Amino acid sequence: MEIIENASLVNFNTFRIHCKAKILAIIRNPNDLSFLMDYIQKNYLQYYILGGGSNILFTEDYDGIIIKNDIKGVRIIESTNENVLLDIAAGEDWSRIVEISIKNKFYGFENLAAIPGSVGAAPVQNIGAYGVEQKDFFHSLIYYDISESQLVELSNDDCKFNYRDSIFKNELKNKAIITNVRYKLNKKPILNLSYNELKNEIQKFLVVEPTPEYIYNTIKRLRSRKLPDLAKLPNAGSFFKNPIVSKEKFDEVYQKYPNMPFFVLNNEMIKIPAGWLIEQCGWKGKRIGDVGVFDRHALIIVNYGNATGKDILHLAQQIKKSVEDRFGIILENEVNIVGSN
Ligand code: EPU
Repeated sequence: MEIIENASLVNFNTFRIHCKAKILAIIRNPNDLSFLMDYIQKNYLQYYILGGGSNILFTEDYDGIIIKNDIKGVRIIESTNENVLLDIAAGEDWSRIVEISIKNKFYGFENLAAIPGSVGAAPVQNIGAYGVEQKDFFHSLIYYDISESQLVELSNDDCKFNYRDSIFKNELKNKAIITNVRYKLNKKPILNLSYNELKNEIQKFLVVEPTPEYIYNTIKRLRSRKLPDLAKLPNAGSFFKNPIVSKEKFDEVYQKYPNMPFFVLNNEMIKIPAGWLIEQCGWKGKRIGDVGVFDRHALIIVNYGNATGKDILHLAQQIKKSVEDRFGIILENEVNIVGSN
């Protein structure tokens, strides 16, 4: 374990906010967890468990311990003609694991290519893209239970996965440190081409029988076309979740805005793209000082240089207010805010 006092967090958050933690504890071995958590509890310190830092906004310095999960390693637990079961340590980089899987001809993750973040963070918000969620391949995970001081295993059902949601954002919020995640991947490709943008891109190139490798490269291309390059324009992906509204509410808005895109989830609930709502309110491409809304995707807030966490939060609050005033729809943050308003 590495302990750094008065640590800069600029390299630990993809918004590249300059802020500090009283202590940064970098965990490289699960055995360090019980020692660290005992110390934290005995000293009544506040703590925050950090993954890849790609879904977080620090609005001030952190007066406690930031626990950076950097446990590494991948191994095959089981392999049959059909599937492979991988055990992946939580500190591994998600997009590296996707790349390794495809190279080894273990399929399923191709639509989830190039998502920034760590493997341990993937189940927390049940990451998803292009019609696939990590829960579709999730087998089980191991976490360190902070109140019980022991390792616990959870199955797919136990994790209560939902759209950008899981038990780790609810009952187990800040009570669990995920150490290993197990995914069951296919040896024979089963492609998911349900997402229109992906389907259209494949049709555009007249590809009749796309391979998983082809899908993987197509997703990378689609993402780079639409999402800002993290190295050039720091951001945390979608800032808000896509709101899910009742059929009643949807009908009310749709009558006024028949061009609004939507996804029917079931008889009662409909998902509306937050990016569209935000664009309608005139935010796309707008810049205020060093913060702005990305000009190719309105769901992404970017840091043009020296924005503070509060600058970003204030812009997010203004966006939220204008969407609520115009559509009567309340946007919920996808990004985790750490610190005061
Ligand atoms: N749209 C607009 N204006 C915009 C952006 C989008 O009108 O500026 C409309 C598009 O025309 C499209 C619809 O919104 O009809 C959906 O847009 P897109 O396909 O880009 O997907 P999204 O709903 O905005 C979600 C995820 C992304 C994921 C993509 C692709 C959430 C909050 N976001 O975005 O995930 O990559 O689908 O599957 O669910 C992330 O979570 O950080 C993330 C980037």
